[in-house]
Amino acid sequence: MSQDLANAESALDGMFDFQALVDAGGGALDDPYPGFAALLAKGPVHKGSLAECLGLPPERNGGGYYIPGNDYYTVVSFAAVSNVFIRKDDFGVEAYLDMGIGDEFGDTILTMEGLRHRRYRDLVQEYFQPAAAGSWWHDVVISGLVEQLIATFEDRPSVDLNAQFFGPLPLQTVTAGFGMSLDEGIEFRRQLAARVYDQSPEGRIEAREAAGKILERVIRERQAQPQDDLVSRLAHAVIEEDDGSRRKLNFDEIASFCRLVVFAGGETTWRQLGIAFYALLNNPSQLADVMADPSLLKNAILESTRWYSDALFPRKVMRDTVLHGTELPAGTQLHVAIGAANRDPERWDHPDRYDIHRPYQRSVAFGAGVHSCLGQHVARQEIATALGALFERFPNIRWDPAKPLPRITGSMSQRGLGDLHVLLR
Ligand code: HEM
Repeated sequence: MSQDLANAESALDGMFDFQALVDAGGGALDDPYPGFAALLAKGPVHKGSLAECLGLPPERNGGGYYIPGNDYYTVVSFAAVSNVFIRKDDFGVEAYLDMGIGDEFGDTILTMEGLRHRRYRDLVQEYFQPAAAGSWWHDVVISGLVEQLIATFEDRPSVDLNAQFFGPLPLQTVTAGFGMSLDEGIEFRRQLAARVYDQSPEGRIEAREAAGKILERVIRERQAQPQDDLVSRLAHAVIEEDDGSRRKLNFDEIASFCRLVVFAGGETTWRQLGIAFYALLNNPSQLADVMADPSLLKNAILESTRWYSDALFPRKVMRDTVLHGTELPAGTQLHVAIGAANRDPERWDHPDRYDIHRPYQRSVAFGAGVHSCLGQHVARQEIATALGALFERFPNIRWDPAKPLPRITGSMSQRGLGDLHVLLR
């Protein structure tokens, strides 16, 4: 990684505008957790969309998460949510296609089922295993980016970590992992964001074409001359068809995968990085424990993903079935409320408490079953490397008293922090 991130600062300016993300997700929603607790107390499965179950109009589910004319049920308990993710033949990812995600990203593993899903996921799985996250991603991609990003602000007394560090790092990690230059990565993200947030059909088409051109150059180059990156891996991967024949992935297949991972890997990790930092800064004794023993960062990160995650993922009932006593007819849409499930008091004592010392119990922050997050080890590696470097370099880091205290906000589907102003010394 030899790109000069300092020169790219102005290009990144305004790119991590959390408010735009919130608006695209249906507008800001105050703390939903008291509502989740009330739903959890009443039962595991509820009639209506998540917003309706919280007493809000259905549009507040955000963006594509509510399709008028469909029947909705909301699943809230840890056990029921886990079951939905695992019973893949009863609860399908076709829900994403109904939401129009195929138009945004193309044909990707997120919306594939069965053997086809496994074949495509297997092509890249090795690059996302814990071993690869701790070696290739860390050594070749993440640690250099962390150093360069910190260098852009380390001499200043204060910084907005969201704009200068937590936003850019995940974006640059995935685009660099694919083999894009810094400029290409920034431009690609800008176009992808425009595609998702620009509601005008012309704007979307224009942005899709611009992002396609960047991908085309990178993919064609790697097809001609492979390097040590994901696009090269995909460009030379061989997929098996149902009839047993084998062929290389075509351009559209590679491009769709890139679009999905840049979006899935950039947005969520950005927000979870901020949440992990926020949780530690607001719990000074736990922060002191992490500073004294950096091996605790692993617990701190997993606990932060449990404690505060996006609220909402979709599934569709594929055949008449029963979930924890509730009959669900085929065709019903489900709101899988992982935010609620991760605070289920049946599974965690004092679930609202952020506690890095609690005995570890797996949460559903990264989903579960065959579609569980492909990039979870990479995400955790990024967060650990970023926070580890910050706390080592700036042991006195604290909220900037001249700025408003940060607050977690967001829509139902995308929660996180806007500005994160800190004093470094
Ligand atoms: C803290 C950050 C992250 C969180 C909380 C997160 C969360 C999730 C969740 C809950 C799912 C399951 C969706 C479902 O079953 O409907 C998922 C899937 C996925 N994630 Fe992540 N993710 C994160 C970071 C990443 C990163 C860094 C990458 C890539 C580098 C990534 C790539 C993917 C992909 C490709 C899928 C689809 C997998 C499949 O359908 O087989 N994610 N993620």
